[in-house]
Amino acid sequence: MLRGLLGESMVARAARAGLVSIRTVDLRDFARDRRRTVDGRPYSGGPGMLMRPDVWYEAVETCLGKVVKVERVEKVVKVVLATPAGTPYTQRMAEEFSRCEHLIFLCGHYEGIDERVRRLVTDEVSMGDFVLTGGEIPVAAMIDSTVRLLPGVLGGGAAATAHESFGADGLLEAPQYTRPPVYRGMAVPDVLVNGDHAKTEAWRRRQAIDLTSRRRPDLLEMGGTYAAGDPALD
Ligand SMILES: C[S@@+](CC[C@H](N)C(=O)[O-])C[C@H]1O[C@@H](n2cnc3c(N)ncnc32)[C@H](O)[C@@H]1O
Repeated sequence: MLRGLLGESMVARAARAGLVSIRTVDLRDFARDRRRTVDGRPYSGGPGMLMRPDVWYEAVETCLGKVVKVERVEKVVKVVLATPAGTPYTQRMAEEFSRCEHLIFLCGHYEGIDERVRRLVTDEVSMGDFVLTGGEIPVAAMIDSTVRLLPGVLGGGAAATAHESFGADGLLEAPQYTRPPVYRGMAVPDVLVNGDHAKTEAWRRRQAIDLTSRRRPDLLEMGGTYAAGDPALD
């Protein structure tokens, strides 16, 4: 599943260019029995199966041993568990991840994971208030959003990501247009075609603030840098 999701687009291109290296690890390789069992029934009953702690510990410790000396672990490695109970994922986390040397992502399955596995992780991250069947989709989303921030991955350098939604100003991105100038009676706003850079920037900012207040007032309430005396907010 992860190979399918990550074997395309920018992430695959970044890997081919040597800008990132991604390895998938099969938890079953760390099982001790012939059936390669990684789950067990929950103590005290309940529906579904839980992932065993021993296979997770051995898998993560093996990965850590391959990438870094244990005393440097805290500084350069994050061990990230995908879980609905985690901190909601944001662009700020993607930025933080993009500055790490190594990231180990844990994809849960079944009814969940033995509680002791939590001791292994540095970050617990949720992709939103809904329940998926496994951690692969959240993990692929985290990898994709992190890799595109790495230097050299996107054409256009840092400028390509600087003015996007959830960027430094904390706003959603303003509407954008391409050719043709009029399509089915819908015209591109004049300000974007007459080439006045200062007016274009002011329009974009106004639009970004309007859009953010309509769709995501919570972002404005959080107080990004845009809030500091911007006349567009009056
Ligand atoms: C079926 S879910 C387990 C849900 C768990 N019983 C609960 O109620 O929180 C199986 C796995 O999918 C992943 N997962 C599901 N929803 C997720 C979300 N919103 N964010 C991150 N990971 C999620 C987690 O790794 C989880 O261990």
